[in-house]
Amino acid sequence: MRIVVTGGAGDLGSRVVSELSGRGHEAVPVSRRTGLDLTTDAGLEAVLVGSDAVVHCADDPSRGDVVTVYATRRLEDAAATHGVHLVHISIVGIDEHPLAYYRRKLRAEQGIEAAGGAATVLRATQFHSLATFFARTFTKGPLTVTIGDMAFQPVDTDFVAVRLADLALGPRPAAYARAADVAGPDLLTLGEIATLVRAHRGASAPRVLHAPAVGRVMRAFAQRRNVPAPGSADEGGRTFAEWLTQEVPRG
Ligand SMILES: NC(=O)c1ccc[n+]([C@@H]2O[C@H](COP(=O)([O-])OP(=O)(O)OC[C@H]3O[C@@H](n4cnc5c(N)ncnc54)[C@H](OP(=O)(O)O)[C@@H]3O)[C@@H](O)[C@H]2O)c1
Repeated sequence: MRIVVTGGAGDLGSRVVSELSGRGHEAVPVSRRTGLDLTTDAGLEAVLVGSDAVVHCADDPSRGDVVTVYATRRLEDAAATHGVHLVHISIVGIDEHPLAYYRRKLRAEQGIEAAGGAATVLRATQFHSLATFFARTFTKGPLTVTIGDMAFQPVDTDFVAVRLADLALGPRPAAYARAADVAGPDLLTLGEIATLVRAHRGASAPRVLHAPAVGRVMRAFAQRRNVPAPGSADEGGRTFAEWLTQEVPRG
């Protein structure tokens, strides 16, 4: 099959490309570095012609609605016009989360559903790399500040990529469909993640300070709205600790 992968050089997209190619399919990575800017229409229709599916991994949270909402809508329209199955990556827990980026991701999903073409949306929890970023951001020296009961169920990006490839190569839905959410195997507090990250580089466990949540966004994280309800997501992939050991250089 011929599958277009937007953001095909990004963290997730490059793994989707490898997965599809490894299974013997033609994976076509597209993004600005291949000459296709999704914020314009130039080249979009041409790359979709003759394709069976497009896996949409391109995004740029720093540009507000421009890529996350508008480019996604344009891609959905073009995919529907050419009868191409759109497989879109989204985020677990965005229905009632006030974080501006998550609200945009929800609007992107709603735009896809409203367009009425064959489309599958897969929601994933935060990737292991993002959980690491959060832990580093909230840790200064031997001190980690956590907000309320903030926690993550981070997922291995490779696991998400395999699921996206499965969806792109699988049966095309008649219209809009939501795949089962995906998450990693462990629910970890921010303090536990920071402890694993520090241990990985030979440092002692941090002292964890619990700060009160201030504002709606902090409260949403403190209430763990980013975490799937127990049993509601397909869990798999490497644990956070396995991923750290295998992917992150020590030091
Ligand atoms: N990180 C997480 O924890 C997480 C969790 C769940 C879901 N997701 C979703 O996963 C997706 C991919 O995340 P990621 O971490 O793999 O992102 P990433 O590494 O930043 O890759 C995004 C890619 O999008 C491309 N892109 C940006 N603007 C573009 C434009 N105007 N036109 C065409 N391509 C453009 C970029 O390539 P060029 O620079 O070459 O254009 C870039 O390689 C996002 O939709 C995100 O919401 C992420």
